[in-house]
Amino acid sequence: MFDLQDKWRQNSDLTSSSSGTDDGTGGCGGQTTLTKTSSPPSSGLRILMKDLSYHVASNKQHGQRAYLLRGVSAFLEPGLVTALMGPSGSGKTTLLDLLAGRTTIGKVEGHLSFGGVQPSKQFLRRYAGYVEQFDTLLGDLTVREMLLYTAELKRPMHEPLADKRREVDKLLRRLALEYCADVKIGDPMAKGISGGQAKRTNIGIALISNPRVLLLDEPTSGLDSYTAHEVMKVVSGLVADGTTIAATIHSPTAATFALFDRVMLLVSK
Ligand SMILES: Nc1ncnc2c1ncn2[C@@H]1O[C@H](COP(=O)(O)OP(=O)(O)OP(=O)(O)O)[C@@H](O)[C@H]1O
Ligand SMILES: [Mg+2]
Repeated sequence: MFDLQDKWRQNSDLTSSSSGTDDGTGGCGGQTTLTKTSSPPSSGLRILMKDLSYHVASNKQHGQRAYLLRGVSAFLEPGLVTALMGPSGSGKTTLLDLLAGRTTIGKVEGHLSFGGVQPSKQFLRRYAGYVEQFDTLLGDLTVREMLLYTAELKRPMHEPLADKRREVDKLLRRLALEYCADVKIGDPMAKGISGGQAKRTNIGIALISNPRVLLLDEPTSGLDSYTAHEVMKVVSGLVADGTTIAATIHSPTAATFALFDRVMLLVSK
């Protein structure tokens, strides 16, 4: 993992120092880390992975185990955006699934903690928001209706509707979606909002339950470089309240890459 942005170094109360490396025993993982000695005020959770492995029953060789992750050691800091990079098949989506408590089969080995707590699946599902690679939006709804619909499903039942509407308005502002809030999302047959707006709406769906960790799988894939940059600008602004953010990303432009604070690399063998 590499500290990318000078902005932290420019802050005189933050100093960088080198910390350990670990490339585990096999297929995936391994990075160099630069770390800050003081952490920003935050509502996010520090995620620590040490020698983390995940294996499932192989569907290639009967009776064998397939290690989808092996010996991954890293940490994700609150208030920083980490780029999760690596070749196709190196386990980026698998790692995000694991961190979001979305794995249903397989066995996890090694150490994983969120804010010092060893998380249960329920804990992960409560505190981690996940933005999937492909948009899962209802084309007949407007952006505002989509977010309100999700708020009704995910936010506490006892919360009054007026409060839910206020939260949706806040999110529309944070995600720069105010101008298309009342436009229908649309689908391939009926044109609606743009690709970048759809991606930001998807991010809104993950944020509606106020997660302390936000995980995004390829939030810029399928977008042109300008729109990808706009989306990542919005994402990098979300750390202002201290949320811990990690996103997988392929071939970012230099400007988009500079929006990340850290890089975590997975390798495949
Ligand atoms: N049951 C299984 N048996 C063997 N290999 C498997 C099994 N399930 C998944 N894999 C392999 O696990 C690897 C990890 O996949 P993953 O989707 O996490 O990669 P990725 O880094 O997200 O790739 P991409 O950049 O293409 O999205 C892949 O090589 C996949 O073929
Ligand atoms: Mg993937």
